[in-house]
Amino acid sequence: MPQPNIILTGFMGTGKTTLGLLLAKRIDYEFIDTDAMIEGQIGQTITELFQKRGEAAFRKLESELVEKLAQKEGLVIATGGGLVLNPRNVALLRKTGKIICLTASPEEILVRVTKSPNVRPLLQEEDPQAKIIELLRQRSSVYQQFLQLSTSDLSPDKLVEEILRLTQSP
Ligand code: S3P
Repeated sequence: MPQPNIILTGFMGTGKTTLGLLLAKRIDYEFIDTDAMIEGQIGQTITELFQKRGEAAFRKLESELVEKLAQKEGLVIATGGGLVLNPRNVALLRKTGKIICLTASPEEILVRVTKSPNVRPLLQEEDPQAKIIELLRQRSSVYQQFLQLSTSDLSPDKLVEEILRLTQSP
């Protein structure tokens, strides 16, 4: 039986990793977090990579990883929030399964990302809330091409059920 991948994308702090782990456990799939894989591969944090080699180097590593993941099945993949900005990454991942975009309000995102400070180089700004709003605006048309699921109102267990329901819809 083919096991299509389930890909969770969306802005930083929308719950991709938390829900991806739960979902993978629930359906006995392997869980892949693209940021964690890249960090393991290069032996540096994403923040160090941005500082030492810049965002373009990070985006290149993301695309190389997508090429590899697109050969596999039975995966729950939590993408970094900017991975889907590259249409080629989207096209490759789409061939392997359904992509679902998690959403949350800018206020919730700020609360969630503040809980893990210094891990998101794009938000190392004097006014992170303004930066979140700006990036959400810039990226809205990209995120809107996917099935949407708000992570604001339901419990993690309910959200996992909802993701499964969305992946089974035609
Ligand atoms: C990024 C999101 C981060 C990470 C990097 C860039 C983005 O991942 O890939 O800091 O461009 O939105 P999370 O969405 O898991 O925080």
